[in-house]
Amino acid sequence: MIDIHNHIIHGIDDGAQTLDDALELLQLATENGISHLICTPHMHPGRFDNNRDTIAPPFAELDAAVKERNMPIKIAMSAEVRISDEFMIMLRRGKVPFIGQWEGMDCVLLEMPHSNVPVGIENLLSWLKKQNIRPIIAHPERNKEIMRHPERSLKLAERGALFQLTAGSVAGHFGSQAQEISQWMLSQEKELIQFVASDAHNVNRRPPAMREAAVVLDQWVGEAQRVMLTETNPHQLTASLFGEAS
Ligand SMILES: [Fe+2]
Repeated sequence: MIDIHNHIIHGIDDGAQTLDDALELLQLATENGISHLICTPHMHPGRFDNNRDTIAPPFAELDAAVKERNMPIKIAMSAEVRISDEFMIMLRRGKVPFIGQWEGMDCVLLEMPHSNVPVGIENLLSWLKKQNIRPIIAHPERNKEIMRHPERSLKLAERGALFQLTAGSVAGHFGSQAQEISQWMLSQEKELIQFVASDAHNVNRRPPAMREAAVVLDQWVGEAQRVMLTETNPHQLTASLFGEAS
């Protein structure tokens, strides 16, 4: 499997704090069947003031440690970008590391606030389209407004948003409502969800639950669709980050 969302880079957000934490999480990821992993630390102005320049050094340190230990996993660098006033400025300055490409467009992993769908998101999606950038919205199933009105996710999809569910939500770790919304989203006729990823933060409370999610996905949507969500689509998205053809 290919994990496109996690907080494994050490010391720059609320995920792994030390290099040892990061390596322990990566070990757990390999035991979960993950062969490729895109590191996506928070870029959240005022909370985690990250950008390409702050993410690159610890990523390089982690990548070197992985290679030195011959761990059976490849890692690449991106970010989970909170929607904020600064987002467009950072993007223009080239400070947002893309998460790959989808249908010829650069992609960015976007995080909405947890409480609501931001006012004006339609304008942001239109603006991104003009810049030839495709947003992937992280964990819609944990957004309080979408949880109350799941059909609002369909409007975002119509405007070009792709979606990533959290493995832990599928497995039931975020409560029955997040799990039910996940199942509802996966049952939509048009493919609403393209990716399932771990959003792993730490070994104890937020481990990578990809294998557990895979078992549930097999029951909900069948093996072929599970492979699409955890392998084929993530590969298509991120092949360029690993210097591979998609
Ligand atoms: Fe995250």
